[in-house]
Amino acid sequence: MSAGGEIEVGPATEDDLRRTAALHVAELPHGLFPRLGEGFVRRWHRAHLESEYGVVLVARRGGDVVGFLLGTTDRPANVAWILGRRRRELMTAGLRALLTRPALALGFVRTRGPRYARRLLGRAAVPARVASRGDVPEAGFGPIAVLEAIVVAPEARGASAGTALSEEFLSIVAAAGGDRVELITKAGARGAAGFYERAGWRRVGSHVDRDGDEVHTYRIDPRFVRTR
Ligand SMILES: CC(C)(COP(=O)(O)OP(=O)(O)OC[C@H]1O[C@@H](n2cnc3c(N)ncnc32)[C@H](O)[C@@H]1OP(=O)(O)O)[C@@H](O)C(=O)NCCC(=O)NCCS
Repeated sequence: MSAGGEIEVGPATEDDLRRTAALHVAELPHGLFPRLGEGFVRRWHRAHLESEYGVVLVARRGGDVVGFLLGTTDRPANVAWILGRRRRELMTAGLRALLTRPALALGFVRTRGPRYARRLLGRAAVPARVASRGDVPEAGFGPIAVLEAIVVAPEARGASAGTALSEEFLSIVAAAGGDRVELITKAGARGAAGFYERAGWRRVGSHVDRDGDEVHTYRIDPRFVRTR
C-alpha cells in the first residue's frame, strides 16, 4: 500500500497505450525506438498487445496508469508475428519519424541500417537471445522470454509497482511453459541492475551495446521465483 492507494497490475488495453508510450519515451529514452517518438512506440506497444507472444501489463493506482511492462513469452515468435502482420505499418512510421530526425537517421544508417533492412526484408533470422552471439553462455533449452521494458512513473516508485509488474510477467511466462527469461539493462545509474538482483535475477553476461554503453544481461527461471 502506498500513499496514493493500492497498486493493481493487469493487462493493458488499447486506451492505455498513449500513457505507456509516453512513460517509455520519458523514462527509458535509450535505444532506437524511443528516439523515434511516442507515435512509433505506441505502435510497437500495440503490436505486442495484439501478438499472441506479446505481453503488455500496466500498474494502476486509483485508476491511473503509473507503470507498465512490455515483454514477450517467446522472442523469435513474437518478432516473426509482428513482422508478419505489422511490418508495413512499422516501417512507414519508422521512416516517417527518421525523416523528421536527420541526426538520428544518420546514426541509424551507421549503426543499425543493414541489420534492420535485412530483417525487415525477411532475409535475416531474428536471434533468439537479447545479447549478441557469444556474449552470454548458451543453454540448451526452449524459447527465450524477454522482459523488454519496465517503467514506473517517478512519483509512484518505491511502492512495489515494479516488483508487482515483473512478478506478474514471470508468472505469465511460467504459465506459458517458459523456463528462461532474459533482459538487458544499462550498467550503472542509468540501468536497474540492483532492482533485478533483489528479485533473484542472475547476471549472465556483459557487453557494449550499439550506442557504446556497457550493458548487463540478466536471466531468471520463472518457475522458481520467490514472490513477496
Ligand atoms: C526500475 C523501476 C521499474 C523500479 O520500480 P519501483 O516500483 O520503484 O520498484 P519497487 O518499488 O518494486 O522496488 C523494489 C526494490 O528494488 C529497489 N530498486 C528500485 N529501483 C531500483 C534501481 N533503479 N536500482 C536499484 N534498486 C532499485 C527498491 O529500492 C526496492 O528495494 P527494497 O525491496 O529493498 O525496498 C523504476 O525505478 C523505473 O521505472 N526506473 C526507470 C526505468 C528503468 O530503469 N527501467 C528498467 C530498465 S531495464
